[in-house]
Parts: sequence; structure tokens; C-alpha cells
Amino acid sequence: MSRIYRKTYAEVNLTNIYKNYSYIQNAARNIKVIPVVKANAYGHGCIEVVDLLASIGVDQFAVSLLEEGLKLRSKFPDIEILIMGIVDDEGLIIASENDMTITISNFDQIEKLSNLSQILKIHLKIDTGMNRLGFKSDKEIKMAFKLLKSNKFVELDGIYTHFSTADVDKLYYDIQLNRFKYILDMLKYTFRMVHMSNSSSLIKYENDIDFTTHARLGISLYGLTLDSNVNFLKTTFKLKTSISQIRHLEPGDKVGYGATYVASQSEVIGILPIGYADGFIRRNKGGDVEINGRRYPIIGNICMDQMFIKIDESIRKTDEVTLFGGLITIDEVAKRLDTINYEIICQITSRVPRKYIK
Ligand SMILES: Cc1ncc(COP(=O)(O)O)c(C=O)c1O
Repeated sequence: MSRIYRKTYAEVNLTNIYKNYSYIQNAARNIKVIPVVKANAYGHGCIEVVDLLASIGVDQFAVSLLEEGLKLRSKFPDIEILIMGIVDDEGLIIASENDMTITISNFDQIEKLSNLSQILKIHLKIDTGMNRLGFKSDKEIKMAFKLLKSNKFVELDGIYTHFSTADVDKLYYDIQLNRFKYILDMLKYTFRMVHMSNSSSLIKYENDIDFTTHARLGISLYGLTLDSNVNFLKTTFKLKTSISQIRHLEPGDKVGYGATYVASQSEVIGILPIGYADGFIRRNKGGDVEINGRRYPIIGNICMDQMFIKIDESIRKTDEVTLFGGLITIDEVAKRLDTINYEIICQITSRVPRKYIK
């Protein structure tokens, strides 16, 4: 990356990613954990995360897009890359040329597989209740399986499904699980890879079942969960900056676009060099940031590149400001924005440099 002058960055703790992975892999015993590194490893930097995990012997990764897979392939010639999203048309040829494993989710893709002239590894996607990607009815699944088996350029390497409620609804999880089991029994075929769990179901339920070989670990690799009972995960992402300017306000002074904040007395405010173009969106107004272990409120409207906080005389320009990942957790920000922790880390834009701690 070219040199960075602004003091805004995301601190990515690779040691903690390693710890989260190791803890979960050890607990999963016979199941091989596939790190999910789509969306630039949930905002952490896919090259750096794969580099770390590959250095300890992890050799299978999952992404969503062919583009994401190709980016990894250019740096890592030896790892297995599963593309979980739809790859079709000429993408199928590119995937086979670059030794990607793709997910087959519909008959349009199967039709296009007739254009192959070299081997393509595929995983068959079964829709057990998410109603997103995959084959659903017995008839569809049997037909897809038959067509795939009859294509000499297709290597039928795996089969999987995806849970829609593993974090919230065990009953629906069980319905999906039993449906998947039924499909495996129906096909009577030995797949090298059989997988279904995401982070939640991997941590909670994987050891209760005996027919999977792998699981796909996304959010909890990055220290997060939607399950309040999980407490062993370590934080991997902190958003940090420092104060670029300190201003003293008189009573009645107005702050920022729309002049929405009016000083009621003599006050001190700090200007932070981060804004909504960095993914720290305007709705964060009203939340807090952390300086020296204490909370300070965000005031006024957040600008594209800057924002305002109310501080006190103890604060210096050199003090580090943590927007989230410390005292103010990513979960707190998710709650503030009425969303899930996934979205908080994914929405920090590429304009924010990532600094790696190892
Ligand atoms: C198909 C699929 N598998 C696995 C994952 C990882 O899920 P999680 O981040 O909840 O572990 C995702 C993420 O959205 C996904 O789409």
C-alpha cells in the first residue's frame, strides 16, 4: 500500500484470528474448519488472513465471488478455494483454468457446464430451508446429481447446505439438518466433503453429528458471534484515529452541517479525521468513542471525511481514539445502528488502511 498520512486506521489482530481459529478447530475435533474469507475476510484483508492461516497449514478457504477466488489464487497457488456464490457463463471456464471449486446451485449452471474442456471441481448446493441458493426438491436434486455425474469434466467433490437460523432457532436448524441427512441418504454417494455449519452451528452443534467432514467458519474467526453464551472469542478488529484539531466553543456556537449541535456552555470539541466515506456512517451520531479508557460522545452530523466529539480539557491531540473494538464493542455499534456485527466490520471501506498486529 502507498504511504498513509492520515491517522485513521483499522487495527487487525492476526494473533487473535489465529487464536480464534485454533480454539474452534481444536473443539471441532474430526471436522476440518474452512475459514470463510469472502468480502476481503469480513473487512480484515483476505491476503493477510489467508497468508497467516496457510502458514500454519490451513489449505482450504471459502469465498463468495470468482473475483475473490482469483485474487487469492494469484498469491496462493496451492490452496483449495471454494466459491460459494453463483459462477456461470465464461466464469465456469475461468474457474476450471484456475483450479477453483465452484458451487452448483441451479440448472442454468449445469447446462453451461457442457462448455467445459477440462476438469472442474464442484460442490452441490442443497437448499434445506434458506430459500436462497441450491436445489430443493428430491426430484430436482436427483436430476442435478444425475446430470453432474454424467459430465466427464465435472469432479463431484462435495455437497453442502447452509443454515438460516443456527443462531436463533434450534427447531428450524433441526428441520434443515434432518432434510440434509435425508438427501445424503437418498443420493447414496460418498462425497469427499460434506459440510453445513457456519460459525453458530459449528460452535454449538457440530459435535452432535457424525456425517459431516467440514464446516465453514466466518464471523467467529473474526472474534464475533450472535450468541451471547459464547465467550472465548478474541477481538480482531479495532477502528482507530486521533484528534486532528481541538476547538473551544462559546455558548450558542453551532457545530457541523445542519448546525444540529449547539453549545450550551463553554465546551471543548475534537475533530476526528474519519467520516461516512470510511464507512463510519451518519447514524453513529449519538454514540460514543473511547479515549484513555473513557467514553466521549459523538456530536453534530458526521461528515464525509470528518466528525466531531465532545471532549474535556484532559484530552490531547496525540491521544488515541478508538471508535470501536475496545471499550465500545462492535456489538454495541451494531445495536446502535440496529444491525448485526457482520455489517459493522464489512462496511469499513478500503480507504481505511489496515494495520496488522502479529
Ligand atoms: C454459504 C455460507 N457459508 C458460510 C458462511 C459463514 O457464516 P458465518 O459468518 O455466520 O460463520 C456464510 C456467510 O454468510 C455463507 O454465506
